[in-house]
Amino acid sequence: MHTFPPRACPFHGDASMTEPGPMTRVTLLDGQEVWAASRHADVRAVLTDPAFSSDRANPNFPVPSGRRLRRETKVKPSLIMMDPPEHGPARRAVLGEFTVKRLAALRPRIQEIVDEHIDAMLANESKSVDLVSEFAMPVPSLVICELLGVPYADHDFFQSRSKTLLSHKATPAEARAANDELWNYLDKLVSDKKSEPTDDLIGRQIRKQRAEGTDDHDALVSISVLLLIAGHETTANMISLGTLALLNRPDQLAALRADPSKTLGAVEELLREFTIAEFVTSRVAVRDTVVGGVEVKAGEGVLTLGNAANHDPDVFQDPFRLDIERGARNHIAFGYGAHQCLGQNLARVELQVVFDTLFARVPTLRVAVPMSELAFKDDASVYGLHSLPVSW
Ligand code: HEM
Repeated sequence: MHTFPPRACPFHGDASMTEPGPMTRVTLLDGQEVWAASRHADVRAVLTDPAFSSDRANPNFPVPSGRRLRRETKVKPSLIMMDPPEHGPARRAVLGEFTVKRLAALRPRIQEIVDEHIDAMLANESKSVDLVSEFAMPVPSLVICELLGVPYADHDFFQSRSKTLLSHKATPAEARAANDELWNYLDKLVSDKKSEPTDDLIGRQIRKQRAEGTDDHDALVSISVLLLIAGHETTANMISLGTLALLNRPDQLAALRADPSKTLGAVEELLREFTIAEFVTSRVAVRDTVVGGVEVKAGEGVLTLGNAANHDPDVFQDPFRLDIERGARNHIAFGYGAHQCLGQNLARVELQVVFDTLFARVPTLRVAVPMSELAFKDDASVYGLHSLPVSW
């Protein structure tokens, strides 16, 4: 038995977090003993086995931060914590917003947002910026705001609340307050839009509910809160980590620049390499089952170490080598099974546009500080970089 360690920087490596092995017992920060699944096959087995629940309010749900969600709340359970039979209909209600066709229609606007931010960056006389605050955060934030119909002018408010919710350092009281404030904000926005539904996700959902003769206000607030949180920290972290990884591998970057058709593969490989949201796929068993040859009893929690699974040599040859041409599409960075990321196609389009445009328009881009000075987020549910000073 060993104490579950904080995630180490993937560049320095940490065998316990990145190398897959048999099902093992680990102890979380709050003392709870849980299983850790780290082989690709074991993680996929957990994420498709109906014996496992996503209910984060279950007292046995493994929470790396040690901070449990409350059940006695006015806040309706989020899609991500629903089990059947509620999960399917709630997911289908918004699935139409994330079709490949709808995202293709969004692409020109995403390109504009990326170009505008690179223009602003290049106008900087010092020829240096923090890529996280000036580019990686605002781009996906603007995209999700426009998609949802949330005023971007309020971004300081909702970004700080999202950060608190995802941070393992926030106290339960701080997390609850952040959750309630986000809920109240979107509650009011949804109510306002009801008098005049706008042409955005929230407005379309209001019209859809009316056409169906329903009015599930709380369901709409709940999915809006989740999309707002899920829609920017994740993609933002992949933008900064992906940029750093490519700048550190000039051979891979040169191959990408020479042939932009390689961007699709590069995005999948970077998603695999970093697996930034591995802690959101944990589960709790609600009946006895078997995973990877071991019996998991009802009430036991399982951490799915997606990062280790995405470095499983049985699935990815030479897994610690970044190779944009390996064809990494079967990674599980977006999870697997019924809860697989709803926004994955949006994230893919954003990352493709970002990497294509950034490296083409800023050919001399470089990291402005030594690797040892970079601050990685290993104290949050989503892995990333606090800042990335770059110059050109
Ligand atoms: C690189 C970016 C992203 C990564 C790595 C990522 C990762 C994940 C993962 C691992 C899950 C599975 C959770 C589970 O199994 O319990 C998930 C679910 C989800 N993601 Fe993402 N995500 C990203 C971007 C986005 C974006 C841009 C959106 C919204 C526009 C989004 C919305 C969601 C939603 C709504 C769910 C819950 C789906 C469900 O429970 O049915 N994600 N994401």
